Amino acid sequence: MEQEFRPGLEGVVAAETALSSVDGAAGELVIGGYAVEELAGNATFEETLHLLWRGRIPDRDELSRFTGALAAQRELSAATMELLRSAARTETDPMDALRMGVASVSLVLRADGADRERWASTAETEAARLVAAVPTLVAAYHRLRAGLEPIAPRPDLNHAANYLFMLTGEEGHPARVRGLETYLNTVVDHGLNASTFAARVIVSTGTDLVSAITGAVGALKGPLHGGAPGPALDTVFAIGEGERAEPYLRALLERGERLMGFGHRIYKVRDPRAAVLSREAERFYRQAGDMALYELARHVEAVAVRLLGEYKPGRCLQTNVEFYTALLLHGIGLPVELFTPTFAVSRVGGWTAHCLEQLRNNRIFRPQSVYVGPTGLTWGE
Ligand code: ACO
Repeated sequence: MEQEFRPGLEGVVAAETALSSVDGAAGELVIGGYAVEELAGNATFEETLHLLWRGRIPDRDELSRFTGALAAQRELSAATMELLRSAARTETDPMDALRMGVASVSLVLRADGADRERWASTAETEAARLVAAVPTLVAAYHRLRAGLEPIAPRPDLNHAANYLFMLTGEEGHPARVRGLETYLNTVVDHGLNASTFAARVIVSTGTDLVSAITGAVGALKGPLHGGAPGPALDTVFAIGEGERAEPYLRALLERGERLMGFGHRIYKVRDPRAAVLSREAERFYRQAGDMALYELARHVEAVAVRLLGEYKPGRCLQTNVEFYTALLLHGIGLPVELFTPTFAVSRVGGWTAHCLEQLRNNRIFRPQSVYVGPTGLTWGE
């Protein structure tokens, strides 16, 4: 059989999913049946999670039980906390600390891989433990790294509000909580992106969700995937003033560098998530009474897209989700080093949903490779 190699699996369909649909030509994203523009600003993160895991928005009683069950899983074990303290002492990167912290969730959660039936019925419990633990891991590590003691989770606060509380020790203003919740809903799931695919591949072997999510965190960390918003904001700050945008970005492109926050494997038009996040950021900066950074970012975006058209004609390089992630999270008050970990706080919802979906109709992933090495070598020559 003729085998065609597609670098990066571009255009290859590797799964069926009812979780999200990405139309790269039209610039449309549907999550659990809702357009991202419809879902992001209306749902709580718990409602979005319920939609992904169970296929529908919960009624009031279901939501209250679901929210309570999730909140009950937030505490970390003493051993995990000790691991985070060790990582902070060596100034480990926050995403590396998160990856190790996620792996250590096994200390209190044993999935019995041998007993498939029982294991499948406990997979959602394992998923809940992971989704609940990630914000606690991120917030605790952030504080330890800054020489502060971690703050215990508050079970009376919802997922987004509790995350902000664990970072600062203060209840976030409702506008900040809503801004964060809109962000979490916007990036929760996005088809078969690299980290989600990694999670599905890992769980398809029949292993546990902790292993799958540990691998996904490692994949998200890469600068081509979840590591872009920090550098995107750094670029806007480095530009500083509107008239510097063109020479600055042109110099980057002349050196063959990539503009962070632009380009996407699937989207050939502006990422619809950029529109949702840019609207939310605009609302935020307007409320705060200082539009300067937002207006500079809009200008940088316009110049970047124009220059990308000039330097990479025909590539259709447009703004991706990371550009306005940076602006919104900065507006909410999160420092740059929390941008990618906060992406994980959201995306762990999508990763776990994909794992549960994969397990419902599992077949182990096993693609092929084309051998391009030598043959017929003789030993000793
Ligand atoms: N700036 C400059 N040039 C770019 C950019 C960019 N942001 N993105 C792609 N290109 C160029 C490449 O250099 C290449 O040009 P060439 O053919 O002349 O060598 C061409 O466009 C195609 O690039 P590929 O890497 O083949 O495109 P791919 O689909 O593999 O990459 C990716 C997509 C990784 C997102 C890329 O656009 C990129 O690196 N963007 C910057 C990083 C970024 O913003 N990442 C976040 C993505 S969103 C997310 O993961 C949540």
